[in-house]
Amino acid sequence: MKYAIISDVHGNMPALNAVLEDARNRGITEFIFAGDYCLSSPYPDQVISAIRNVQNKHVIRGNEERYLENLIGKDQSLWTDGQMQISYWNYRNISADNLEYLLAQPASIDLERDGRNIHITHSLEGFIGENEFRLIGPGVQAKKYKGKPIDPETLKRDETSTIEADDAFRKRLSELEDGIYIFGHSHVQWSYKVPGKEVYLINPGSCGLPLDGIENTLPYTILDIENGLVGIEQIRVGFDLAAYAKTLEDSTQFKEANVWTKVIMKELSSSREKITFFIDYVNRYAEKIGDERRPFAVDTWEAAYEKWEESMNGYVFYGNEEAAKVHAGERILKEIDTPLDLYDALSKIWCRETCAPRMQDKWTPENMTYGQCSITAFLVQDLFGGVVKGVLLEDGNYHCYNVVDGHVFDLTSEQFDEELVYSPDDKVQTREEHFRKEEKKRRYENLKEKLFLSVE
Ligand SMILES: [Fe+2]
Repeated sequence: MKYAIISDVHGNMPALNAVLEDARNRGITEFIFAGDYCLSSPYPDQVISAIRNVQNKHVIRGNEERYLENLIGKDQSLWTDGQMQISYWNYRNISADNLEYLLAQPASIDLERDGRNIHITHSLEGFIGENEFRLIGPGVQAKKYKGKPIDPETLKRDETSTIEADDAFRKRLSELEDGIYIFGHSHVQWSYKVPGKEVYLINPGSCGLPLDGIENTLPYTILDIENGLVGIEQIRVGFDLAAYAKTLEDSTQFKEANVWTKVIMKELSSSREKITFFIDYVNRYAEKIGDERRPFAVDTWEAAYEKWEESMNGYVFYGNEEAAKVHAGERILKEIDTPLDLYDALSKIWCRETCAPRMQDKWTPENMTYGQCSITAFLVQDLFGGVVKGVLLEDGNYHCYNVVDGHVFDLTSEQFDEELVYSPDDKVQTREEHFRKEEKKRRYENLKEKLFLSVE
């Protein structure tokens, strides 16, 4: 028996049509749909209708359906949040009958075929914890490949070697009962047979919004169970996602959920994760302007998008685009390739304790880089080389930043309301000078220790 496993269509009707056609051309007559049918592309109602028309199918709910469920019976005049615009649009553009059908689907299905137990669930987290997202999730892939495309063979090799090199992941897999585990959710296509066991994992990727970096193709996976043998074939159907992304501009979704749709268009045309980076960015932006409204209000949501698009890589510290070009040749910490990775790690570490004593009173999590400049700049130098330089401030102190191979950047620039002037004539700062103060040396060692503990 052959099944076409399709997941995460996310309102992309042309993609679903292309994948169904490809599967039917291969003679497949049984289908498994693993969740997330709406919220992203502008054809959610058509997608649900099309799935309802498929014969011989198993359908489960995904996580996105819950956003629609939460809107049922609510007062639409209160639907004013920017972040929720995509959910409002979907709710208004899915027929009541289709929504009812969707929400009536089970969260998981267990089957038995040819002596094999098959578990279908949208997210595998209940079985293997966060290991999938931690190691081969779309955010990890986007950072690892810096948004560059990848080919299916390289991706497959990389996923397998990453899984096999990780003790925690291997341990969770070894604890699974024999069976075939079918899921979606991460938008990254992968499959794996646990060595020495009859355990098979199948994530067909996202049919409508792939985020595994294989551009302009639509993934789905064929499961073949025949005479006790299990066959798994990962398919990529050629499809011009970049051209399709442009067509979203003509939709009412583009008008009514503009920011979300623009981010989705970027994801479609690159097949790389963007939305979670954008939401992290909006969080930082809202904290910086002191906006505590959640979900994000329209003004903050839209203003953050403008800024995010300007900085595009999601960072706002001075020289972030230059910093993205700097790589740690020999990795001291395997998770830190560029200063952007270091910034991400330090964002969780900078604290009052690591802030200069004379500034600690004014340190806040929203202004996390405050009073952290010199110890951060020397830590950057440890990992990436180059020199530490200082902008002379009005109070007579130096604000430290880095120059590596001609790339000028300042991981702690966000503490200043106005941009500093960085000049080639700025004075080189030395450790001897700065660490003459015992307390500063201790803070530097403290920051470094916290960093190493956090990424190990
Ligand atoms: Fe999804």
